[in-house]
Amino acid sequence: MKLAFLVFFLATLLAAVLGQTGEFYPCKADVFSARAVLLHQEPKVNVQCGVANQMSSRIVAGSVVTPNEFPWMAFLRITFWSGDSAMCGGTVIDGRWILTAAHCTFGAVSITVILGAHDITLSSSDANRQEFTSHKWIVHPSWSYGDVENDIAIIELPFPATFSEYVRPACLPYVDDPNQLGNPVTLLGWGNYSSIPDSGFSTYLRKTLTTVISSAGTTGQCQQQSGVGSFSGDKIICSDGSQGRRFCYGDDGGPMNFYDSYWGTYSVVGIAWIGDKSSDCQNSRLPNIYTRVSYYVNWIYNNTDIVPTPRPVTTTTTTTTTTTTTTTRPTTTTRPTTTTPTTTPTTTPTTTTTTPTPTSYPSGFDCKGKPNGVYPNPWDDCSRTFFYCSNEYVYEYVCPDAGTVFNEVLCECDFTENVAGCWDEHQRTEEFTCYMI
Ligand SMILES: *[C@@H]1O[C@H](CO)[C@@H](O)[C@H](O)[C@H]1NC(C)=O
Ligand SMILES: *[C@@H]1O[C@H](CO)[C@@H](O)[C@H](O)[C@H]1NC(C)=O
Repeated sequence: MKLAFLVFFLATLLAAVLGQTGEFYPCKADVFSARAVLLHQEPKVNVQCGVANQMSSRIVAGSVVTPNEFPWMAFLRITFWSGDSAMCGGTVIDGRWILTAAHCTFGAVSITVILGAHDITLSSSDANRQEFTSHKWIVHPSWSYGDVENDIAIIELPFPATFSEYVRPACLPYVDDPNQLGNPVTLLGWGNYSSIPDSGFSTYLRKTLTTVISSAGTTGQCQQQSGVGSFSGDKIICSDGSQGRRFCYGDDGGPMNFYDSYWGTYSVVGIAWIGDKSSDCQNSRLPNIYTRVSYYVNWIYNNTDIVPTPRPVTTTTTTTTTTTTTTTRPTTTTRPTTTTPTTTPTTTPTTTTTTPTPTSYPSGFDCKGKPNGVYPNPWDDCSRTFFYCSNEYVYEYVCPDAGTVFNEVLCECDFTENVAGCWDEHQRTEEFTCYMI
C-alpha cells in the first residue's frame, strides 16, 4: 500500500512538474510540531472515573443530592451575543472536556463551566468550585437545531480541571453497551422542579431516579409516547417520566447516570435533550429523552484523546467434578452381617466466573514490561492514535501531529511496521490534504 502510494505520489509530482495536471501543495508547517503527551501526567490516568461521594440516605424522586455526591456534574452558563444567558448541565468526562447537548451551545459566544458546585446561586459559599470560560466546543456534525438525534457536543476547557473529591470525571459507557432496558438510572440537574408556575430553577442540584424504557427501532414505546417524531433508538435512550420523574427546562445537557454495581462506578449513558418549559412538566408523564452516549463514544474519541474503554473480559470456566457416594444396605440382626456397598457416581458442574479486579480498571495503554517502541492502539485497528513506550512510560501520539514519525516526503504519518492496519487512505484525502490533483 505504502509503496503504491509512493509511486502514485511520485507520478503526481512528476505530472505536476511537467505542468500537465494537478498542483502540489507543500505540507502545512504546523504538522511538523511534535506533540507527545505523557499520559502519566494527564489527570485522567490517575483518577478513577465514576466514583460518587457519600450518598444521601433519602432516595426520593426529585430530591436534593448530598453536596458533591456526583462530582462530574457541571453547571453551564451560556452567554449569547445579545448578552442574554441560559443554563444547562454538563458532565466532566476528562480533565479537559465537558459533555453536553449540542442545542445548549447553539448561538453561544461563550460558556462558563462551573465544576464542584452544589448551590448555584451567585452568593453560594461552595468552597470547592472551579470556574472556566470556554470559547471552544465541538458540535456533532449531523445535528441541526431542533433535531432529536445527534444532540451532543463537547466543550473544551481552556486549562485542565484539578481533580479532587469534588471534581472528578464520570466514566463513558462501553461502545457495545446493551440497550439497558429496565436499568435504573439517575437524572441530575438544576432545572425547574416544581409544578407551581414560575417557581424557578433549583438552587441545589437535584436527582431523580427512574428506569430505562424501550426506544427500540424507530417506533418503540418512547417514540410513541413522546410525540417528537421518529428517531433511532440506537441514538436515543429514554427513561420513564411518570410519577414526577422528569427532567425539565434547565436540565438540558445534563447526565443520565447508570451505576455499574460490579465496578462501583457511574457512567454517563445519556445527555438530556430539550427540557420541557411548561409548568406541567413534572406531571406530563412523558418519557425523558436523552442522547445515547454509547453510540457516540467513537465520535468523542475522534475529537479528543479519550480512548474508549474496552469492556472487561469475563471468562467462564466450567469444571466437572465426579463424587463417589457409598451407600450401605441396612443390616439384618438375625443373620451374620453382610454389607454390600453400592456406588453411585454424581456429577456436579461448578461454574467459576473470573473478571479482572476493579483495581486495574483500564484507563489507558500499559507499557509495563514492553520493550521501547511504537504500539498499535489495541482498541482500534485503524486509529490515528497510537502509543510509544519509552522505559515503560507511555506516550500517546495522534497523527498527523506526531513529530517523530511524521514522514515529510510522504506528507503523512509514517507508521512503523508494527502498527497494524494503520493505513489511512481516507485520512489523506479527507482530513490531511497535502496535495491536490
Ligand atoms: C423555570 O425556571 C425559570 C427560571 O427561574 C423561570 O423563568 C420559569 O418560569 C420556570 N418555569 C416554570 C414552569 O416554573
Ligand atoms: C472517526 O474518524 C474517522 C476518520 O476520519 C471516520 O472515518 C469515522 O467515521 C469517524 N467516526 C466517528 C464515529 O465519527
